[in-house]
This record gives sequence, C-alpha cells and structure tokens, in this order.
Amino acid sequence: MLSLLLVGILTALVLLLFLSSWKRKNLPPGPVPWPLIGNLHQMDKSAPYKTLMELGEKYGEVFTIYFGPQPAVVLYGYDSLKDALIGQAEDFSGRAILPVFERITHRQGLVFSNGLHWKEQRKFTLTTLTDFGMGKKSIEERVTEEAKILVEFFQKKQGKPFNPTDRIYAAVCNVICSILLGDRFDTEDPTFKKLLRMVNENVMFHGKRGFQFYNTYPYIMRWLPGEHNKIFENARVLQAFLKGLVKDHIASRDPNCPRDFIDSFLNKIDENAKKPNSNFTMDSLVYTIFNLFIGGTDTTALIIRWAIKLMLMYREIQEKVQKEIDSVLGPGKCPSMEDRARLPYTDAFLHEVQRFASISTIGLAHVALHDINFRGYTIPKGTQVIPFLHSSLYDKRYWEDTDHFNPNRFLDENGKFKKNDAHIPFGAGKRVCVGESLARMELFIFFITLLQRFTLEIPAGESSSLELVDGAIRSLKPFNVCAIERV
Ligand code: HEM
Repeated sequence: MLSLLLVGILTALVLLLFLSSWKRKNLPPGPVPWPLIGNLHQMDKSAPYKTLMELGEKYGEVFTIYFGPQPAVVLYGYDSLKDALIGQAEDFSGRAILPVFERITHRQGLVFSNGLHWKEQRKFTLTTLTDFGMGKKSIEERVTEEAKILVEFFQKKQGKPFNPTDRIYAAVCNVICSILLGDRFDTEDPTFKKLLRMVNENVMFHGKRGFQFYNTYPYIMRWLPGEHNKIFENARVLQAFLKGLVKDHIASRDPNCPRDFIDSFLNKIDENAKKPNSNFTMDSLVYTIFNLFIGGTDTTALIIRWAIKLMLMYREIQEKVQKEIDSVLGPGKCPSMEDRARLPYTDAFLHEVQRFASISTIGLAHVALHDINFRGYTIPKGTQVIPFLHSSLYDKRYWEDTDHFNPNRFLDENGKFKKNDAHIPFGAGKRVCVGESLARMELFIFFITLLQRFTLEIPAGESSSLELVDGAIRSLKPFNVCAIERV
C-alpha cells in the first residue's frame, strides 16, 4: 500500500515537472522549477535581488524564474531593460496586478491598473501634478519651506545623537500633501505619525516572503494569520482617511477655482459624469491619491536617509560637497534647481547615492498584456515581467567597480557632470515613475539645505557600517546622527 502511494506521488511529481517544462516552451531559460513551489526556495530570504543577480550571471540578459507554478521573466542588465522598456515600450507597458494589490486597489487608480483606465489616470495625474507645481518654482518654494522646518528640528538636537527618520518622512510627505490636499500636517500630529508608519510598513512588505507567498497562493493565504493581514488593514485605514479628506473637499470646493489635486479630480469626475463607464469616479480618485501618497513618501524619504548615511560613512566626501556648496551658495542662499549645473560634485554625489542605494531593486512588476516576442523568445500573455533595475545600476558593462561608492564616476575629466544611460533608478519607458522630477528636486534641496547648516557625524560608539532591512527594498536599519552646527 505504502509503495503504491509512493509511486503515485512520484508519478504526480514527474508529471508536474513535465507539464511545467512543456509550459516553458519558448520562454527564456532559467533554473528548473520544483513542482508547486517553483524557484521560491532558491531565493535569498533577506535579499532576493542577490539571487536574481546570480541567476543573471548564469542565464544571461533575460531569464525565467517560477513563483510557485507561475513563471516570471526577468530583464537583466541595462541593454535588456532598454530594449524591452524603451525599444518595445508599448509591449512592456502592462502592470502585473498581483493579488496583494488587486485586494488593495481593485485594478483602479494609477499604479495597479492597465488599459484605458491607466492611460487616463496617468495623463491626468501628470498634467495635474505639473499644474500644481511639480518641476516648477512654486513647488520648489514648498520644498524649501519643509527643508527649513527640518533644519529647525536638527538644530534643536544641539549636536546630540538622534534618529532623523520620522522627521524626514514627515517633511517629504508634507510636500506631496501640499499638492494633493493643498495642506500640510503638523509633524507631531499623532494621526499623521500613525499614517506614516503604515505607509512604511506597506512599502516594506513588497518583496518580503509573505508578499511572495500571498501572491502565489492567495486563496490559501487569505485565511491564514500573518503580516499580510496588517498590510490590508493599514491600506483600509489609509484609504478611509483619504476618503474623509475627499468629503471635506466636496463640502468646501468651488469648481471654478480648484485648490489642489483632489479638487481638480472632482472637476474631472463632473466633466465625465454623463459618460458611460467613466474612469473618473470617487473610487478611482481615492485609489490614485492613495498611490501618490504612498509612492510620493517612502521612496523619497528613504533616499534622503541613504544620502545622510553615506555622508556619515565618507567624511572626506562630505567635506568636498560642503566646500562646493560653500563656494557656490555660501551659508545663506537657499538652493534652487537652477544651481545644479554649478554644483557638479554635489550632483554627482546625489546620482551615486541613487545608484549605490538602488532602493527599488526589482522595480514594480510588469505583465505581458499579449504574447510578446523578445530576443527570440515568446513571453506568453499574462506572464509577469520583472524590470530588474538593480542589475542596471550594478551592470558591470556600464559601471566600474560597482560595489564601491564613488561620486567621481559621474564626473568627466574637466570636473563636469557626466551622465550614464544605465542610471535608471526611476525605471524607464511608459511606466517610468511619475514623481521623478519631484523626487530629484526634494533630494537636492533637502540635502543641500542640511549640509549648508550642519556637519553630520556618527555618534560616539555607533557603527558606521551599512545595515540593511530584509526584503526587495534596500532600506536602512535605524541609525542615529549628530548634526553639528557649522559656524
Ligand atoms: C527617490 C524617489 C523615487 C523612486 C526611486 C521611485 C521609483 C519608482 C519606480 C522604480 C517605479 C516603477 C517604474 C516601472 O513600473 O517600471 C515608480 C513608479 C511610480 N512612482 Fe515613483 N519613485 C520615487 C518617487 C516618487 C514620487 C515622489 C511619486 C509621487 C509624486 C512617485 C509616484 C509613482 C507612481 C504613481 C508610479 C507608478 C507609475 C505608473 O504605473 O504608471 N514616485 N517609481
């Protein structure tokens, strides 16, 4: 009886293996998946991108891995990413609506939608963000205001050690809030602090084991305890909060004079009210501002934390940056994006921070919306596509000595800023980050304002080494800083 059972199990396993290799047909090569779990067991638990780097070395510029029974095609290295996301931009413009995201935004909003819904949300969002100052002088003034508030907070610490994370989050979130809601929050407001914690928890869930498991086995996972339940609850609370703000806007708005993103969206809803199946509804409004609230906060705050951490680690680079800032702006002049060309070393430093930090290692998953032919392979409709950004930022064909932090790689022999095409921390192609110019501006202004006023030092007895949080986002473990006022 037992041997019969064993034979049965073995036959089933061989059959599953056969079926999965049959399904692979013309997919790019990759490691052999195990039945049911695929290659999940091979992924590095604390840093999944490290496994993908190893697989890229072995299988080349496009390869397939399996999350459970589902294949995912990985674009490895700048050339492959460019050929797909730019060369075949339309083909690769689909977003994978993974079960976690499906449950949170129901295929609506900007980030986790496709087709006409996505096109309309994206066009509207880009135009409206620009109308309310993104990439312009008006938003620069808001960023400068928040930077000054951050400086005051650093000053109050009088050179004593403190963890700057919460205040950086609050500053960055207040910038996006000023565009979305026309208002800012008090940095000490407990509700605001709670919301920021939730934003961080939800972003950090991306790429963790629980995230992979929920997306692979949603029908089982939804009944089990685990971190995913907290993530869904966080999303519910955040969305309820945003719905409340939309209600307040409805009560106080003047359609002739939209004050912010929400008012403009409400006008768009009115404009499209008579259209059947309009994509501008109360739900899509809440999901789009939810996307922007989260997208506009965590990544930008994290990159500012990386810039501070790297300043602590490389004192000689800090001195060079300060010297340049002093000679171009002096202690008093507020930085503006127009100063960038006159601050090539600082600009190079900030670019190298983005490359070295490589915070969104695997980007956000895309999907093949139809069968795609790429480099002689066929990626079947519905297959997840991973734009592996880390492999571009660490691509040995485009960068020397990838593991070294070196701002000079962005300077030419005359000390002028030199760009590198493989520098794509915001992605590329039709899904490229909509907040890129805002994020760049925030990093530039916050960072320079802080270094004009303070020298950043590691508190006595604390480690200067890099300590990362587990997961697909390269986040930093909490660290303290001493901000010594410059005279
Ligand atoms: C350092 C800061 C930031 C980084 C590194 C970053 C990175 C990214 C990346 C890698 C993507 C995915 C691209 C793709 O799918 O191929 C993305 C998409 C997106 N980002 Fe950002 N981002 C940052 C800041 C922001 C800000 C400030 C906002 C809000 C204004 C924002 C809003 C979005 C949105 C809405 C999308 C989805 C676009 C779409 O699906 O069409 N991001 N970002």
